[in-house]
Amino acid sequence: MERDVQEILLDRVQIAAKVKELGKKISEDYRGKDLLVVGILKGAIMFMADLVREIDIPITVDFMAVSSYGQSTESSGAVRILKDLEVSVEGKNVLIVEDIVDTGLTLRYLLENLKSRHPASVRVCTLLDKPSRRQVEVSPDYNGFEIPDKFVVGYGLDYAEQYRHLPYIAVLKPEAYGREE
Ligand code: XMP
Ligand code: MG
Repeated sequence: MERDVQEILLDRVQIAAKVKELGKKISEDYRGKDLLVVGILKGAIMFMADLVREIDIPITVDFMAVSSYGQSTESSGAVRILKDLEVSVEGKNVLIVEDIVDTGLTLRYLLENLKSRHPASVRVCTLLDKPSRRQVEVSPDYNGFEIPDKFVVGYGLDYAEQYRHLPYIAVLKPEAYGREE
């Protein structure tokens, strides 16, 4: 697996420190309030699992799975819900946990969709942000790292469903693309 990795952008120590910092900030901001943390499958699995363990106030968790139509490394803007929440968000403070905000199209859809269900509030926490790729104006309330316009894998993020289990965020060698097809 590691033979496909060109460069490690963020190692496990950097990620752990940032996740701890985000968990602390979120705990402070929501102390005394109810909070529903919504992880977006599958990319956010690692981040979600680590983040909630750094939150020291009572929370509940749920998950949504969405998929954008189109190519594996590009987002078309059309979003489909593959798995919806199991709980109602009405009157709740909701925190969406995402792996990465790229064009912003997925996030815009999620925000509009959740806001239409009358939550008390909706905020977004993303591990990674690629602001240079933004097509719509959305900005995460909590952001781990701004990264350059490179396709990254690991710590939940995939290329063709591979590499999610890598404990770091990495860029692949060019020859790793297309091997799975
Ligand atoms: P948008 O463009 O809607 O993208 O903001 C959000 C979703 O696109 C995927 N994405 C990536 N996945 N490495 C990945 O493994 C990347 O560099 C990358 N950039 C975007 C991801 O699923 C994200 O939720
Ligand atoms: Mg993906």
